[in-house]
Amino acid sequence: MSDDHGQESWERRWTQVLAADAPAADRRHPNAHLLAEVADLPPGRALDAGAGHGSEALWLAARGWRVTAVDFSATALARARHRAERDGVGDRVEAIEADLGTWTPPAGRFDLVTCLYVHVAGSVTAAVRRLASGVAAGGTLLLVGHRPVDPSTGAPTRASGQTQVSVDDALAALDPERWEILVAEDRPREAAGSGVDAVVRARRRS
Ligand SMILES: C[S@@+](CC[C@H](N)C(=O)[O-])C[C@H]1O[C@@H](n2cnc3c(N)ncnc32)[C@H](O)[C@@H]1O
Repeated sequence: MSDDHGQESWERRWTQVLAADAPAADRRHPNAHLLAEVADLPPGRALDAGAGHGSEALWLAARGWRVTAVDFSATALARARHRAERDGVGDRVEAIEADLGTWTPPAGRFDLVTCLYVHVAGSVTAAVRRLASGVAAGGTLLLVGHRPVDPSTGAPTRASGQTQVSVDDALAALDPERWEILVAEDRPREAAGSGVDAVVRARRRS
């Protein structure tokens, strides 16, 4: 794993961001793609893989989901737990410190598995399949990857140098006999001002 995207680097980044102004970090809105894709789902068990300091986990928990937040930054997870307690949803947010490069969710446990903007160090296919294995029959997999180059300008984005999931990677990893693909597209990244996000939403058939 490259140093820029490894555990020590993320831990250092989260420590700096939260020490500088944790309330400002907390004010960041939950991800727009998550809001668009998940608002219509009935709450159940959710896995947020690469949850950071918990903005999406808290949004889900406030809507009745029981959320497992996984990240390899202990500092980010501690903030997520703190925020969950503060917001009165502490009993609905579990934090697990683990490396998604190897961690595999319990098979078929979650009604929703989401992974937003996480660099994949190894095989993208294997990473997508590991996450997908955690989805229950009838459940939803939502993957969002920030594309490394802005197609409208050709300029590198903040995800430059990273490998995040693409539409093609996700579709190649998901067996169409087991997955109904509901969304698979590149969308302008309006919330962040520039660039493009790959958005894949799939429903497990069996
Ligand atoms: C760009 S941030 C995205 C955070 C959040 N998902 C969001 O959309 O704002 C990536 C997060 O994934 C975590 N992360 C990156 N690689 C990881 C890995 N291999 N295992 C666990 N967490 C990882 C980082 O610590 C960081 O919190």
